[in-house]
This record gives sequence, structure tokens and C-alpha cells, in this order.
Amino acid sequence: MMETQVVLSKTRSADEYREVLYSNLEEHERLARTIADMLYLAHADHGLLVPDSQPVALADEVRELFAYYDVLADERGVGLSLLGEGVVQGDKLMIRRALSNLLSNAIRHTPENGTVRVTIAGSDDAAVRVSVENPGPAIDPAHLPRLFDRFYRVDASRAQGSDGAGLGLAITKSIVDAHRGTIGVSSIDGCTRFEIGFPRADHSSAS
Ligand SMILES: Nc1ncnc2c1ncn2[C@@H]1O[C@H](COP(=O)(O)OP(=O)(O)OP(=O)(O)O)[C@@H](O)[C@H]1O
Ligand SMILES: [Mg+2]
Repeated sequence: MMETQVVLSKTRSADEYREVLYSNLEEHERLARTIADMLYLAHADHGLLVPDSQPVALADEVRELFAYYDVLADERGVGLSLLGEGVVQGDKLMIRRALSNLLSNAIRHTPENGTVRVTIAGSDDAAVRVSVENPGPAIDPAHLPRLFDRFYRVDASRAQGSDGAGLGLAITKSIVDAHRGTIGVSSIDGCTRFEIGFPRADHSSAS
């Protein structure tokens, strides 16, 4: 607002106006995203996130997300790899959103030439597990329990460039909760790993 007020205080060149408009646009996009995320969480609080119950092939969703994040990952010199497959009973769009938040975080925190690994494992128990793992400095254990809190960011000043509000993981957790799943995080020896457990498609339909 201040930038805009200063520019409006006298006549400027077209270039100067353009620059402020771009900067405003960026800020508007950020605000719109934050508001949409907050509304989504408000819905979740009121039990209004009712997931669809369709078979969702996780590997297909991950591949589509990889296609979406390809440019960003490339730009940052980050590789993307997928191993395994599994089908869960749930809401395709919500699951995609949950995984998308994990992937965007992982890509952003991976050093150049590192690889983000997504692993789907589903044969051992009642859950299909999908993990998103990235190399990078480990997160201090003190922060781990709070990562899924709204607006919680480990280092808000250093993470400035990312523009996030700190709502991504809170949304992922509410989507997982709505699916009666589990989510956890570990960060040791230069590797951060988020793991979601979804009830198996055949398991949940049988119960
Ligand atoms: N893969 C990761 N490696 C290291 N730190 C992470 C990773 N994922 C999340 N974090 C830490 O957890 C914080 C919360 O993540 P979250 O996705 O909720 O918010 P954000 O990415 O900062 O913003 P938003 O997702 O709303 O754009 C991040 O700011 C970051 O400090
Ligand atoms: Mg995020």
C-alpha cells in the first residue's frame, strides 16, 4: 500500500507504473492464496471437508504432479523420482492437494542437484503409505511437532523468498484427517521425510 501511495503522489513514467502494478499483482496473488487457504481450513474446522470416496491410484496423481512441478524443479536443478504404487479410497482432488503441498515444500528445500523421492508402499498392512523425502539441512527436532500448525514456519525471515503463509502443511493434515489417515515427519542426517498413511481401498470398503 505504501509503495502505491508513494507512486501515486506525483506523475511517474509508464515503466514506474508498470513496476508497481507487477509488484501489486504478486502481492494480490499471495493474499488471494492465503485467503483461499484460510477458508479451506475454516471449512475443515466445521467438518465440511467431506472427501469423495473413489479409488485413487496414487502413482498416477504423483506423476501428474511431477508434470506440473517439472519446470520449477528444473529451474532449481532438482530431480523428481517415484517408486511404487498403491490405490486408496478417497477424494482425488483433495489427495492431490495434500501431496502437492508436500512436493512444493520438498522441491523448495532441496539443494541443487538433489532429488525429491516419492515412495508408495501398500502391501504390508491396512494402510497405503506414501512418503515424500528430500535432502537438505535437517529441521531442528524442536520444530517438528509444530510443523503442521497454521502459520508455523521454521525460519520465516530466511524463507521469505518462498512467499508462503505457512498453511500448506496444516491443509495437508486436515485432508489426511478427513480421510482418517495419519501423517508424520522425520528429519535426520540431512534428509526430511513426510509420510502419509491412507486406509487401503479394499480395507475401508470392507469395513
Ligand atoms: N521438506 C521440508 N524441508 C525443510 N523444511 C520444511 C519442509 N517442509 C516444510 N518445512 C518447514 O515447515 C514450514 C511449514 O510448511 P508449510 O508448507 O506449512 O508452509 P510454507 O511452505 O512456509 O507456506 P505455504 O505452504 O503456505 O506456501 C515451512 O515454512 C518450512 O520451514
Ligand atoms: Mg508449503
